Amino acid sequence: MNTGEKVLSGMQASGRVHLGNFVGALQNWVRLQERYDCYYFIADWHALTTGYANPGALTESVNDLLINFLASGLDPDRCTIFIQSQVPEHAELHLLLSMITPLGWLERVPTYKEKQQELKERDLSTYGFLGYPLLQTADIIIYRAKYVPVGVDQVPHLEISREIARRFNNLYCKEIFPEPDALLTKFPKVPGIDGRKMSKSYGNAIYLSDSPKEVEQKIRTMMTDPARVKRTDTGDPELSPVYQLHKVFSSQEEQDEVAAGCRTAGIGCIDCKKILIRNVLRVLEPIWSKREELIHDPARLRHIIEKGTKKAREAAAETMVLVREAMGLYQP
Ligand code: TRP
Repeated sequence: MNTGEKVLSGMQASGRVHLGNFVGALQNWVRLQERYDCYYFIADWHALTTGYANPGALTESVNDLLINFLASGLDPDRCTIFIQSQVPEHAELHLLLSMITPLGWLERVPTYKEKQQELKERDLSTYGFLGYPLLQTADIIIYRAKYVPVGVDQVPHLEISREIARRFNNLYCKEIFPEPDALLTKFPKVPGIDGRKMSKSYGNAIYLSDSPKEVEQKIRTMMTDPARVKRTDTGDPELSPVYQLHKVFSSQEEQDEVAAGCRTAGIGCIDCKKILIRNVLRVLEPIWSKREELIHDPARLRHIIEKGTKKAREAAAETMVLVREAMGLYQP
């Protein structure tokens, strides 16, 4: 049953989608579309906050992200899919919220300093980058969304969104914005092929656009418990990134089997990887065939985005009438 409550989430268009994004976000989004009135969008403005010097890659990223949304199972008949920059009301709300947002609130969001450290080669001492969580707040509250499915890394952003919604309501004595809640995902950290969190910047990711050969290659070359040198050495599955991926992609029986096999040297690392390869391919195969279909149907992609954008703009415009009124702005 659909409760009619609003869910909103976005994904930044900054490169290819990997299995971590799929398991950590998209799979969850797909499940939610049965129960809620879901809005899912491609955050192309957010991609520019860090990628402003290289806009050439953006068009391709946006298109690929849309294809991956649909190939992962988002259904344009059951949720609203759109592109952030096609709904300029987000920018208007961002501007108006900037009037009431103390600088200190933005400066103390932990991702602000962390990302600047991480991306030292880019100049992120910009106004737009500081405002990243404020733009994200506008994205969410313009739909008066109740739930925001995100990973734990986004919790500080949700916290500031709640604070800003509360501040707005208090300042203008109107309950316009509900405070959004995070819906945390079951697999917040999918390990990459080196055991660290799967991430584009670590070069350890398996992408939805990889070929079956590439996926197989990547898993075959994965590290396992370093103590298992010979086939007859026993190992500790917890020290093996392969086992961490089994936890995400394999059944409970298979997990138990490979864990016991690892501890007793009853199974070799190659065979353990073969089971994982089979399970990962099983998840990816339907995505690949849908991707193939969609890549060759730009008219359908355009139609989906046009329809989603229209619906999103209507919802956003309704909220903006209330916001302009609350802030004393002229309205015809
Ligand atoms: N910051 C999110 C990310 O990096 C993307 C995003 C932008 C978002 N606006 C949002 C997520 C609103 C949820 C709600 O993936």
